[in-house]
Amino acid sequence: MKKRFLAMLLAGAMMMSMAACGGGSADAQSTDSGTQAATGDAATPTKTGGGKVGVSMPTQSLQRWNQDGANMKKQLEEAGYEVDLQYAGDNDIPTQVSQIENMIAGGCQTLVIAAIDGSALTEALKGAKEKNIPVISYDRLIMNSDAVSYYATFDNNKVGTMQGEYIRDALKLDTEKGPFNIELVTGAPDDNNVNFFFGGAMNVLKPYIDKGTLVVPSGQTEKAQCATANWSTEEAQKRFENIISSVGYGPNGKKLDAVLCSNDSTAYGVQNALIAAGYTADNMPVITGQDCDKPNVKNIVAGYQSMSIFKDTRTLAEKVVGMVDAIMKGGKPEVNDTKTYDNGTGVIPSYLCDPVFADKSNYKQILIDSGYYTESDIA
Ligand code: BGC
Repeated sequence: MKKRFLAMLLAGAMMMSMAACGGGSADAQSTDSGTQAATGDAATPTKTGGGKVGVSMPTQSLQRWNQDGANMKKQLEEAGYEVDLQYAGDNDIPTQVSQIENMIAGGCQTLVIAAIDGSALTEALKGAKEKNIPVISYDRLIMNSDAVSYYATFDNNKVGTMQGEYIRDALKLDTEKGPFNIELVTGAPDDNNVNFFFGGAMNVLKPYIDKGTLVVPSGQTEKAQCATANWSTEEAQKRFENIISSVGYGPNGKKLDAVLCSNDSTAYGVQNALIAAGYTADNMPVITGQDCDKPNVKNIVAGYQSMSIFKDTRTLAEKVVGMVDAIMKGGKPEVNDTKTYDNGTGVIPSYLCDPVFADKSNYKQILIDSGYYTESDIA
């Protein structure tokens, strides 16, 4: 966590636009228009709710999970529930396992879990199954556990697709011959979302790589080669520094046209590496991201990052609170996808929220007019 903040401070100082990363507004109304419910009969949370809900979040080192946790707690408490909210240190799997075991032993009647490693909770969740405690997988799918009842997330495939399409359109890949140089950076290999983020983007970009309009000079095109442990800014930066020196990228060296980054923490590391190699806002490649973290939005405004996918954490929290409320009252939660997410024990009924992209042209409307940030948050 400290390292991530330090990286932000250093890069921020270089750009003279430094500011700390913290939680965003948690109390404005949702802006998500949502997708249509196929089996929608979720109860609206009311003051009459009651009972204890365990909420397990992976880390406090990224802005989004702080917002997710805070939004969930606030909305669940408003709906009348007692909330046991736990963060698993900085992505510490044993901590998450023992926190979940404590929630099960401590009388939680529903669990909401954003897993660090999607495949590491099988044993811990056997206890939930034995006690008939429903589990909602939050944002990331928990794999290989039949204790998982529902999944709520953003449309992860659409996130990747939008990132790929942004690069396609920015480089005009359908009309320009190129060849354009691109490098690929994705996230944690134990996060099931990566399959969809990277897969969705590569579905768009691979045809251009196959026909030679796009070239990956590092030769690193496989998901495993492009992965970043724990979505770490420092790891992404280190890998990119190696790519810069081995390929010879630079403002006066080999031209780099685009970097696909699956999220903002990795995009930040890539930008740190490029800035250290002499790049400025005037010659930065097209760089994608996800989460609209404050330091990244500042970099979008300053011209260091091209776009970020906006996933309104208030909306996801609201959907999950609706699911919890329906379950606790013996009802059936609203879902809108019953085919995409198989966790190895079967398809998990899911609610997918709609992501949108933010760039320099629309960030005010998307992020400020919606009440997600204030002007001063990203000044
Ligand atoms: C989330 C992203 C986030 C990443 C790193 C993913 O599972 O969907 O929003 O940037 O984890 O925390």
